[in-house]
Amino acid sequence: MRSRLTLAAASLAILPSVVCQTFTTCDPIKKTCPDDPGLNADSLDADFTHGSGAISSFSAAAYTTLTYGDNGAEFTIAKQGQAPTIQSNFYIFFGMISVTMRAASGTGIVSSVVLQSDDLDEIDWEWLGGNSATVETNYFGKGNTTVYNRAIYYPVSDPQDNFHTYAIDWTADRIKWIIDGTVVRTLQYGDANEGKNYPQTPMILKMGTWAGGGEGQPEGTIEWAGGKTNFSKAPSTMYVKNVQITNYYPASSYSFTDKSGRWQSIKVNTDASSGSNSSNMTMSSSTSSPSTTASVAPLDQNTGAAVAVTSTGESYSVNTASVSALNSGSAVVATTQVPAATASRSPTHSGSQSTQTGSSGAGRLGIGALTLLITVGLGFWVL
Ligand SMILES: *[C@@H]1O[C@H](CO)[C@@H](O)[C@H](O)[C@H]1NC(C)=O
Ligand SMILES: *[C@@H]1O[C@H](CO)[C@@H](O)[C@H](O)[C@H]1NC(C)=O
Ligand SMILES: *[C@@H]1O[C@H](CO)[C@@H](O)[C@H](O)[C@H]1NC(C)=O
Ligand SMILES: *[C@@H]1O[C@H](CO)[C@@H](O)[C@H](O)[C@H]1NC(C)=O
Repeated sequence: MRSRLTLAAASLAILPSVVCQTFTTCDPIKKTCPDDPGLNADSLDADFTHGSGAISSFSAAAYTTLTYGDNGAEFTIAKQGQAPTIQSNFYIFFGMISVTMRAASGTGIVSSVVLQSDDLDEIDWEWLGGNSATVETNYFGKGNTTVYNRAIYYPVSDPQDNFHTYAIDWTADRIKWIIDGTVVRTLQYGDANEGKNYPQTPMILKMGTWAGGGEGQPEGTIEWAGGKTNFSKAPSTMYVKNVQITNYYPASSYSFTDKSGRWQSIKVNTDASSGSNSSNMTMSSSTSSPSTTASVAPLDQNTGAAVAVTSTGESYSVNTASVSALNSGSAVVATTQVPAATASRSPTHSGSQSTQTGSSGAGRLGIGALTLLITVGLGFWVL
């Protein structure tokens, strides 16, 4: 057994569409990385209305404290710097996630449910607190943010007051975004830059809330989020009643066998003792049997969860004060790139289930003037 540092932090974990994640602890298309622990079962149900027990399959990001009630897990933002976020302790390789939830209210508050891979594939649901009529869908492949034209908004009846079930059904051929059983959007593999931008590597599930209009956020992000967050209207809470996850290729772990980032390169490692099997992409047996148990060190919320800095190009500097505030030598630094320009917030409704009509929900990225959001987080993952 060994410890591996992981669980990048709060805000970046659940960044909205305009701020595709650009940090990963290890990018398998750039170097050799440890295998990803898999959900070694066909499915997993986490019912948060029964309290904290359901959290056992997830890790909380730094500074995250969830509370529980009749409406399930409560992701509450009460003040600047908070971004309660959890992520699954396992990866799935194609599958379906269904989340029954209510989005947080308040201009400048963002709620997110995101599938995300080590090489920065991403499939998103996002709700803006200033918009109680729509939900945004988005995706990214291998962190490609050169064109922000993938976000599409769909109408939904008051997502802040009503519980709805939002699902993503993800296969090698297509991705479906589904609201209360109705498919609102389908992305075909070939329509994502001939597959090159198609999300296709093992994903974790991240959920949380974040102040997109918080102090220190780049102007484009604040505008996209609907304006500055007014913390005197806090608290603002996203409620998650339950999460159902189906893994189409259950495995004890997944390996990237080359640096292509293609689904064909993913090795599905089944564990003989697990009782689980899978039809294979590429089948192999594995002697290692990663546990999906995680423990996360509790951290003081008051030390400030997120540090926003600006920089250029690929380089960035870290707020060392915040890093040392984490008081354990094992902080990870995460960076997220944010478009310089403003996002279009006008919702676009596409009635079609199979086409990618609709305008972009995001702005344009000025390469060379990347704005990086640096966040520090801490977590341990027992392999
Ligand atoms: C990134 O996406 C854009 C838009 O689809 C595409 O033109 C470009 O070739 C992609 N870049 C890579 C490296 O795939
Ligand atoms: C923030 O919200 C409070 C309470 O609703 C309100 O009194 C105040 O004017 C708001 N501030 C801004 C800058 O909108
Ligand atoms: C997996 O299990 C199912 C039923 O449990 C069985 O029908 C199938 O043949 C198994 N597949 C493999 C590859 O062992
Ligand atoms: C699974 O992998 C094994 C070993 O590589 C191969 O012989 C078999 O044909 C594969 N099965 C499927 C259904 O692809």
